[in-house]
Amino acid sequence: MDARTIIEKIRDGRDPAQAELNWFATSLASGHITDAQAGAFAMAVLLKGLSDDARVAWTLAMRDSGDVLTWDLGQPVVDKHSTGGIGDCVSLLLAPMLAAVDVPVPMISGRGLGHTGGTLDKLEAIPGVRTDVTEKRFRQIMDDVGCAIVSASTRMAPADKRLYAIRDVTGTVPSVDLITASILSKKLAAGLDTLVLDVKCGSGAFMETPEDAKRLAEALVSTANGAGCKALALVSDMSQPLAPAAGNALELAEVMRALTDPKNTPLVDLTLALGAEAMVLAGYDTAPEVAAVKLRDALTSGAAAETFDALVLGLGGPDGFSTSGQTRLPEANVIRDIEAPRAGKIAALDGQTIGMGVVHMGGGRMRGGDRIDPSVGYSDILPIGADVTKGTPVARLHAASEKAAQAAERAYLAALTIAHDATPPRLLLDRVV
Ligand code: URA
Repeated sequence: MDARTIIEKIRDGRDPAQAELNWFATSLASGHITDAQAGAFAMAVLLKGLSDDARVAWTLAMRDSGDVLTWDLGQPVVDKHSTGGIGDCVSLLLAPMLAAVDVPVPMISGRGLGHTGGTLDKLEAIPGVRTDVTEKRFRQIMDDVGCAIVSASTRMAPADKRLYAIRDVTGTVPSVDLITASILSKKLAAGLDTLVLDVKCGSGAFMETPEDAKRLAEALVSTANGAGCKALALVSDMSQPLAPAAGNALELAEVMRALTDPKNTPLVDLTLALGAEAMVLAGYDTAPEVAAVKLRDALTSGAAAETFDALVLGLGGPDGFSTSGQTRLPEANVIRDIEAPRAGKIAALDGQTIGMGVVHMGGGRMRGGDRIDPSVGYSDILPIGADVTKGTPVARLHAASEKAAQAAERAYLAALTIAHDATPPRLLLDRVV
């Protein structure tokens, strides 16, 4: 086989065979394909698109470019994926809630990407927690706790790792086909039976318009189904941070609040909606309303908090984190309110700007491998629709230095629109099966 023929087929709108795509993915992972060929492949896919069958075939090829886990638990294993947003700490809440109702969740998560935070970075804000565990440890935590949140080993979907880095520098990231195959190859390598997807839509999301978000949701669901994994997607609002915080330890504190004192916040509501859909799709329940009651009980009874504690302990963190460990979360040097510059209603919060404000404070990475400061970010974020007068705190900033605090305050105020009228967004925008 040769790379040029495969690239030419895609360029000319013809589907390569599964065997050709398998060869291309394996050769990407081994380094046999050159950067130029990989870039041409990505550009051909971006410009010409893949057929539904070819997208499934490419996803399977990338999945099979490395290790694929299997689980022999006698019941379906479930996972959730979000396309990434601001204040999105659903995974940290959902995995222990599902495990607390005996639904196994072997979650392989990612780190921050661009302006969006990553589940692993948030979890590692807890002193001692390490998510880069061996497969043996991953399986042990699954046995002991019922859920695990860990990083992918370098042996999982290595073709995606190489192609993603090349897409990043060749202007080929925003292709629904490539995004779908990239996300699903890693998720499917974890050996899932069922996947719920949270496709974000709005200023803090990859997909800004409802139409684009729906297109991605449809591609993700049909490709996962075509690859033998039951899937469903909710399209959810990301025109403002989901939890009222952005930053690793600050979002973790929101998760702990939800686990120990659950209220009907957007974070809890979206987590319940995704969890209930996952339980029905995997066959644990027949109606989402029934599943949602079980999941809420797991929160209010403290069972989900206990499961979270067991997970933290399993990953090397302190014992009893939800009751005593929270005081050990790192705190920033400079903590102060950001005040409304005038009276009115909060009408818009630009997610990209808020997310990049956190990155620039040191809460995310400018370059791969950068160390992050888990303590920094914004908390107490007032939502869209809130009434303010001049001087009302609209958020609290947490920065490492006065200089960083001043820049972070400017960024937040640039992200904020105060107007006479404001319409709070709907949380759930669409459902794709
Ligand atoms: N996340 C991924 O893992 N891959 C993409 O291409 C985009 C988001």
